[in-house]
Amino acid sequence: PTPTVPADHRAPAPRYGEQPHIVGAAMAELETWVAEIAALTQPARIHWIDGSRAENETLLREQVEEGKLIKLNPEWRPGSYLARSHPSDVARTEARTFIASENEADAGPTNNWVAPAEIRDTLTPLFRGSMRGRTMYVVPFSMGAVGGPLSHIGVQVTDSAYAVTSIGIMTRVGTEVLEQIAAGKPWVKTVHSVGAPLAPGEQDAAWPCNDEKYIVHFPDTLEVFSFGSGYGGNAILAKKCFALRIASVIGRDEGWLAEHMLLIRVIDPKGKAYHLAAAFPSACGKTNLAMLRPTIPGWRVETLGDDIAWLRPGEDGRLHAINPEAGFFGVAPGTGQSTNVAAIETLWGNTIFTNVALRPDGDVWWEGLTDEIPAELTDWEGNPWTPASGRPAAHPNSRFTVAAAQCPQIAPDWDAAEGVPLDAILFGGRRATNVPLVLEATDWTHGVFLGSNISSERTAAAEGTVGELRRDPFAMLPFCGYNMADYFAHWLEVGQKLRFDRAPRVFQVNWFRKGADGRFLWPGFGDNARVIDWIIRRVDGSVPAVDSPIGRLPRTEDLNLDGIDVPAADLAELFAVDPELWLHEADLTEEFYGIFDGKVPAALYSELAALRYRLKRA
Ligand code: PEP
Ligand code: NA
Ligand code: MN
Repeated sequence: PTPTVPADHRAPAPRYGEQPHIVGAAMAELETWVAEIAALTQPARIHWIDGSRAENETLLREQVEEGKLIKLNPEWRPGSYLARSHPSDVARTEARTFIASENEADAGPTNNWVAPAEIRDTLTPLFRGSMRGRTMYVVPFSMGAVGGPLSHIGVQVTDSAYAVTSIGIMTRVGTEVLEQIAAGKPWVKTVHSVGAPLAPGEQDAAWPCNDEKYIVHFPDTLEVFSFGSGYGGNAILAKKCFALRIASVIGRDEGWLAEHMLLIRVIDPKGKAYHLAAAFPSACGKTNLAMLRPTIPGWRVETLGDDIAWLRPGEDGRLHAINPEAGFFGVAPGTGQSTNVAAIETLWGNTIFTNVALRPDGDVWWEGLTDEIPAELTDWEGNPWTPASGRPAAHPNSRFTVAAAQCPQIAPDWDAAEGVPLDAILFGGRRATNVPLVLEATDWTHGVFLGSNISSERTAAAEGTVGELRRDPFAMLPFCGYNMADYFAHWLEVGQKLRFDRAPRVFQVNWFRKGADGRFLWPGFGDNARVIDWIIRRVDGSVPAVDSPIGRLPRTEDLNLDGIDVPAADLAELFAVDPELWLHEADLTEEFYGIFDGKVPAALYSELAALRYRLKRA
């Protein structure tokens, strides 16, 4: 017989929003912190989030009643809602994002640094009374499976119900996380206020926010303070603020990596599974690759994550990865039946949309969802819209927030606590010139060199030139919580902990190379599986590669091009290496490394010197 706890020995269940009955020294520390933040921000009430379905439904219903969410027509989009932000609060605000490390050098030249004591003096008056008239929610969350060996936990206090319901999709929230805290697991403190206190009787805004915004990270004390914005990356603090900026610092100190990477399992026609992580700057198709539907027969992709991966060397000498998130916060425009059918299927219901257009039938629409454009819509700002309006109906950064488990091709074990061992790491940017479709690094150090050089062309490049480059090393420029040169060194150190024959192989990919006539040379999307197929056969050791001055290239006959027509001239151009242009590119790398005051590891300067040597001999 199963032993049962007599009912009268159990603590009474807390009522809606009440603090649960969990005791212990660590809980007392949390309670003291919550009380301190409440004393500062002066909310009308405090609500402890238990993570239940009933609680979530109540929070959604309240937001509809308050005019903050529009309930979509359940016939088309059950359990789904539309939020319209303030027109000024539509994206991450990198200029208002700060790293408040004790030493300025620890933030490095690519972050906005501010002294911790100084910024605390700035933040205190802003947060004083900032939650007046509002509910302060206490949201315990876990990144990674609750209690997992690679997982980390935190608590966000926030005065935004929209943030709470979004965090509930993007992470694992609720009372079981408090039990982890009570058991003594370290946790990160994150504080969020939209910065719009309500006077008694004052009518609330549909999207309260403040013109003044601060997204401040304290890496030495593992805290985040975010003021003035309700937008995803500024308000769902578990995501970019914690799982990337703060976690990258924890990873530096503990010997692992917090990365801006998708995570997939690729299954070959024989049924063998491989795991790939890939870093791309924003707007390079990361979510599309995460949900790839291969166009070549026999191949399958299972999605594990679309934005963040935590990578840790294991006892077995391999690099193990988890997706610490539990949902997708994806860009809607451009997501359609022809570009990402798996995402469209994921969004069938239970989705919070932000800043997309509303159809007269109570469903949503955005540019790229369907080929035909609806005759009338309500645009993302709530105004009537027709195709003649001459402006986008959905904001270009409009978003969907949806549970990962809804993805039709999610890996069955996507939330396994121990993660998956990586076979390959891909780095990609959006390059019209120079960078080949795919290139294999000669070893880990060369791979780190490639990662440190990820860039996208800001301007269309003319023939025989390189457009102005936006550098985005490892796609982490806005997300690395410490000095990027130290981060390069940390990548090299992590490589030292891997068994040389078990470390993931590193590749650079570029889906965006253009011909002299401005045409894309590669079809992209599902056909990117043809590149993945080559990568996996390299991992397997079943195809040779050709050495070039910039790394290992495929023999074109080894690419599976069955069923597509890539003209021979285009194929040659996709892999063309022009030594002159690459020597210029090497100069740009040296210029970029120069901003780090000599801190870039010598091993990467050696890679640069070796690259120039090979190019000059070519
Ligand atoms: C965000 O802006 O919150 C976000 C997830 O950013 P991105 O899509 O650029 O990674
Ligand atoms: Na700076
Ligand atoms: Mn991202």
